[in-house]
Amino acid sequence: MIKSTTIVGLSGSLRKASSNTKLLKYTEKKIKLIDKGIRFSFGNIDLPLYNDDLERERGMPATVIKLGDILSQASGIIISTPEYNKSISGALKNCFDWMSRLKPNPFTSKTIAIVSATDGRSGGERCQYMLRMCLTPFDCNILQTPEVLIGHSSKAFNEAGDLTDEKSNELLDKLLEKFLAQASI
Ligand SMILES: Cc1cc2nc3c(=O)[nH]c(=O)nc-3n(C[C@H](O)[C@H](O)[C@H](O)COP(=O)(O)O)c2cc1C
Repeated sequence: MIKSTTIVGLSGSLRKASSNTKLLKYTEKKIKLIDKGIRFSFGNIDLPLYNDDLERERGMPATVIKLGDILSQASGIIISTPEYNKSISGALKNCFDWMSRLKPNPFTSKTIAIVSATDGRSGGERCQYMLRMCLTPFDCNILQTPEVLIGHSSKAFNEAGDLTDEKSNELLDKLLEKFLAQASI
């Protein structure tokens, strides 16, 4: 039986020119170079703001169900988070709250790699901790190292969308090697 392998990328930033989305697209390129049979898809976290009334009165929004299906079928998940006021974005936290309402929670038991891109110097060190904390109740297999932190993100990618810094590329390669070995491929 041929097992289909899909890695799902979640960008914590909703904006079109997001450097976190760029980082995930670059990660997709790298994964395809390692194994072109692996599929990569993006989950859309542009969901309504969680409100218990919405769920009770109208049922689960279609966008929530769709994201839940995509995540459930993923062999592994890569989350790229921006840093908003030393934390993750509201959109990302909102996505976690919605997903936690699905039975079973689509994140549970998944292998998760975390990366971050910020236009500040730190590259998102603080929001990566916050992200790990937010995922604690979901009982995921979160890779702890290496930490891929892309600072000054507006200048970190060339016109082809490639990450130019050699050290960051090295760390990303190491993270992906570990991730693909642990994801259910
Ligand atoms: C509301 C808000 C808060 C921010 N707070 C931080 C912060 O705490 N640390 C940081 O490094 N950058 C911060 N930034 C700058 C972001 O790193 C920058 O906008 C980055 O490009 C966001 O990621 P994106 O390119 O994927 O949208 C903040 C930006 C916004 C809009």
